Amino acid sequence: MAHSLADKISTILHEFDSRMHAATTLEQLETIRIHFIGRSGVVSSVMDALKQASLEEKRIYGPQVNTLKNHINEELERKKLEFITHLQTQEEKSARAFDVTARIWQPLHGTLHPYTQVIQELEDIFISMGFAVVDGPEIETAEYNFDALNIPADHPAREHHDTFWLNVPGLLLRTHTSNVQARTMRQATTFPIAVFAPGRVFRNEALDASHEFMFPQGEIMFIDKNVSLANLMAIAQSFLQKFFNKQDLKIRVRPGYFPFVEPGLEIDGQCPFCTQGCSVCKRTGWIELLGAGLIHPRVLKAGSIDPEVYSGFAMGFGIARIAMIKYGINDIRVFHSNHLPSLQKF
Ligand code: DAH
Repeated sequence: MAHSLADKISTILHEFDSRMHAATTLEQLETIRIHFIGRSGVVSSVMDALKQASLEEKRIYGPQVNTLKNHINEELERKKLEFITHLQTQEEKSARAFDVTARIWQPLHGTLHPYTQVIQELEDIFISMGFAVVDGPEIETAEYNFDALNIPADHPAREHHDTFWLNVPGLLLRTHTSNVQARTMRQATTFPIAVFAPGRVFRNEALDASHEFMFPQGEIMFIDKNVSLANLMAIAQSFLQKFFNKQDLKIRVRPGYFPFVEPGLEIDGQCPFCTQGCSVCKRTGWIELLGAGLIHPRVLKAGSIDPEVYSGFAMGFGIARIAMIKYGINDIRVFHSNHLPSLQKF
């Protein structure tokens, strides 16, 4: 008994000293404390053993256990203080090194893409004029992209260099937003039909400052009884006046050919930036803005609408183009360039 108590005390002392030597954090000190002098720690078990010992042994080992306990307590306190002081000086040091004049990096704020912003602007304008916003598929059938629009199979727009055909026969990436025309007509149950359809279109073209293979277009379609060119002109003019924030903006029309309208028109808007001619309007005072016309009877029929009863107009325009004019951008490639300084102008 005596022998084993003496052994135990010295083993505990040894183990304690070596663990204290290795400790580097306050958490480790706490673990050591619990292990050695916690309620069911190793020192308690020695004290329990001592209770069973003889009087003489108690006289010898009692004081030893007490010394051990005091040693452990003192060492733990000492080291704890040491660690705390060390932590405080570290904090003071870093506080002293804190540079109040240092530059704070401003977080980068994202914005909506210019196309999205312009499309929202256009949607607001057309909704305010009573149009509904509709959407068409980007992967389209030749039927809706061409046939239903009276574009015969031998029309140049069908040639492969213009159209991205998919591997699946009869499917393509829509070349214009006019694909919504017959789709919308077939779904309509009440008149008038008044829709605005913005969206992406795709053309297999070489890139330059005014051509991209993917760009946004907008399509406007209005169908009712007795729709005339006067209605078309009124809508075109007030839309352009609103978009360019110019109350007195005038438009002019020239004949134009599109297979899906008869008559077909090209609509120019007065240059919103000048009166005599500038670089935007190439010194003519006019800018070509829309393709338009009265919907061809064959197109109405393809949309299951009786051309003897109903008539309508359609207009189409490049959203990138009118955005470039409005915001003074001279290269369409900017929109997909990830060039932040240009995109942040919006
Ligand atoms: N879809 C034609 C294009 O992509 C634009 C167009 C012209 C749309 C005349 C129309 C229209 O609705 O009447 O070039």
